[in-house]
Amino acid sequence: MKILVVGSGGREHAIAWRLSKDEGGREIYCAPGNAGTAAVATNLAIGAEDIDGIAAWAAANKPDLVVVGPEAPLVKGLVDRLEAAGILAFGPVAAGARMEGSKRFAKEVMDAAGVPTGKAEVFTDPAKAKAALAAYGLPVVVKADGLAAGKGVIVAETLAQAEAAIDDMLVANKFGAAGAEVLIEEFLDGEECSILAMVDGENAVLLPSSQDHKRVFDGDKGPNTGGMGAYSPAPVVTADTLPFIKEQIILPVVRELKRRGIVYKGILYAGLMVTPEGGRIAKSGSRINVVEFNARFGDPETEAVLPRLGGDFASALVHAAQGCLKEEDIVVKPEAAATVIIASGGYPGSYAKGKEISGLDGHGGDAIVFHCGTKAEGGRVLTSGGRVLSVTALGGTLREAVDKAYARVAEIGFEGAFYRKDIAHRALAR
Ligand code: AMP
Ligand code: GLY
Repeated sequence: MKILVVGSGGREHAIAWRLSKDEGGREIYCAPGNAGTAAVATNLAIGAEDIDGIAAWAAANKPDLVVVGPEAPLVKGLVDRLEAAGILAFGPVAAGARMEGSKRFAKEVMDAAGVPTGKAEVFTDPAKAKAALAAYGLPVVVKADGLAAGKGVIVAETLAQAEAAIDDMLVANKFGAAGAEVLIEEFLDGEECSILAMVDGENAVLLPSSQDHKRVFDGDKGPNTGGMGAYSPAPVVTADTLPFIKEQIILPVVRELKRRGIVYKGILYAGLMVTPEGGRIAKSGSRINVVEFNARFGDPETEAVLPRLGGDFASALVHAAQGCLKEEDIVVKPEAAATVIIASGGYPGSYAKGKEISGLDGHGGDAIVFHCGTKAEGGRVLTSGGRVLSVTALGGTLREAVDKAYARVAEIGFEGAFYRKDIAHRALAR
């Protein structure tokens, strides 16, 4: 089976790596990939957002499946292009990717489908937006409607912060078109988790739960990042809540999209807030509320979740893309997984690139080192991004997985490297 993976991060390395573990020959390509994907796939000099380039390669090389990693090519309509050319693709069409690309659209779909989420209103007029704040209390959340690289969400502790965020978006245009509409949203109290649902247009199978660590420093301090680590399963998602998440959140969205003529295939990633016993209950009345949807695999959640999957991963992706996904397509191993991101000094602000990475080869142990932002140059591996490596280990217990991941992290170095030392702290403290 010939498969093209689109993207160049840790998520795409994990997807290509997991495909390479399937039995039976897999011929894997990455567009463009990184120094890590080169070990399990053939890297192509085609950018992830080069829709024409990817479509041309697919027309000439006839892959059995194209798996799209990042949101940008989905929102730009890569899957629409491939499907029109008769090429099977895993990922939603552009109209479906709006679940991530437009927070306003996602709210409309959730409201129509009766899915529990924070109460929100949409504004284009800064004075009206500010006037609405009083009704929400504090904290209050201000969000840019469109894609803003994770920076378009402000959880404001004071009215002044909320008003400043509204001005940044609607007056100063700091987020460009993405901030031309603003959502004022109810603050949701609790602990977050990620549920990646594999969807085939009608049915869905939930992948194992996970939790991401968005803040840059230990103790969840400092600015938000793309994610500094993850682990799976996330005990905040108890087994008895999984049917609720599937039946009351994922499937109603898939059905509502279908009613609107959008056949959603690929990953529907629900970022959920779980309110603890005694926590402030949201206006929806539910203890589990949607914070956001993404139209793709999470990063770094994928690096924690995919190593836990047994079975034939390519078949699951193909079945989802063909509209015939079955519960048996997803086989989950009992081991827990922990993933630690090693980042470049300065990230998520500005950082240096081109630093040589040591310790990638010749280790014992069975941890997996996924590459996020690396490039190969003259036999050396150099840093080329803010998040550089994603180190995952499996263990009989989460504690064991965490310890194994950190033991491997300690062997790796480059100038300015840093990582969080408390990945999985919430689960380990339970
Ligand atoms: P998003 O880009 O929508 O995932 O938002 C980024 C982060 O902001 C989330 O992961 C949450 O930590 C936080 N956040 C977003 N919306 C809310 C909300 N309504 N209540 C509390 N926290 C939120
Ligand atoms: N880890 C968060 C995301 O992929 O959006």
